[in-house]
Amino acid sequence: MHQTLTLLGIESSCDDTAAAVVRLDDAGPKILSSEVMGQTALHAAFGGVVPEIAARAHAERLDGVVGDALARAGVGLGDLDAIAVTAGPGLIGGVLSGVMLARGLAAATGLPLIGVNHLAGHALTPRLTDAVAFPYLMLLVSGGHCQFLAVEGVDRFRRLGGTIDDAPGEAFDKTAKLLALPQPGGPAVEGEAATGNPARFRFPRPLLDRDGCDMSFSGLKTALLRARDMLVAAQGGITRQDRRDLCAGFQAAVAEVLAVKTERALGMADLPFTALCVAGGVAANQTIRAGLEAVAGQAGLPFVAPPLRLCTDNAAMIAWVGIERLRAGLPVVEDFVARPRWPLDDRSPSLLGSGKKGAKA
Ligand code: KG4
Ligand code: ZN
Repeated sequence: MHQTLTLLGIESSCDDTAAAVVRLDDAGPKILSSEVMGQTALHAAFGGVVPEIAARAHAERLDGVVGDALARAGVGLGDLDAIAVTAGPGLIGGVLSGVMLARGLAAATGLPLIGVNHLAGHALTPRLTDAVAFPYLMLLVSGGHCQFLAVEGVDRFRRLGGTIDDAPGEAFDKTAKLLALPQPGGPAVEGEAATGNPARFRFPRPLLDRDGCDMSFSGLKTALLRARDMLVAAQGGITRQDRRDLCAGFQAAVAEVLAVKTERALGMADLPFTALCVAGGVAANQTIRAGLEAVAGQAGLPFVAPPLRLCTDNAAMIAWVGIERLRAGLPVVEDFVARPRWPLDDRSPSLLGSGKKGAKA
């Protein structure tokens, strides 16, 4: 290959305003910059992401974040080959903020504009970080998403299954709320669980008895609520150790469900997978990771978890999808529309409902 591609990526589909510059040359891909400006403080008082507040913050901050990404990369607009922007799925006001900015930049510079599926960004990240070859299995587990994808090509994804209700991150966040722990709930619950007894409370493992790799996590939080309330009724409150044990029991249930369903997903696709990959904020959880790593080991596959800053929402993954699409010779469709829902796999039935962080794809 003797083609150098330098792309600006823009991401604003949830509560992170992000821009990045990624370059691909003979030496491989390089992230020249990746700026992420979170909005946790703006939404903290509301117990979840407020779409209108998110959209306004993106609109106010995007040009500054893009400017920072270009400056840090030492790249001017004239050095770019194209612009890639998240066109969905996500909170539509935020997606539109990014798409409008990107359209303006593309019109002013004459650069091609590539509308990217946010989930493709997560799904193709193992190729940016670890040059993983197709086909591989991707488990995407975050606050808004939970699905198994057979990644067969730059534009070929097969959804093998996913959650039918809450995403695991959402369940961690709700658990934290029920136990008066801080948000985001994942790290807080993991911290408590470290000194808890996972065997004291036996929480349900939903859908384990059912074929396939669909999952359900909403019943888990109800079971936790019931266990907490029983303790409160019996002893007038919960002790610190009760809380640690509840967290450990909850985490063990999530980890087991994810591990068992991952094993099933590996077998379901009937593809010569090259790796088991994981992305999303929940992938930071050491117990969950250990479970998945063991499944990969048993299947004789490498376990690939990109560094956390590339597992969670960022714009380098969006620029990377643009590069992959250009490199594969896929046509650039300039008149794309912003989409709140955009399943990667059109053949899979769409799931109803909306998560805390937007529509479930
Ligand atoms: O991927 P992410 O940063 O954002 C999106 O949802 O798009 O994921 C955030 C989610 C939150 O729900 C957070 O509680 C969860 O990931 N999370 C964790 C851990 N760190 C973050 N869940 C379990 N264990 C963790 N250590
Ligand atoms: Zn995401």
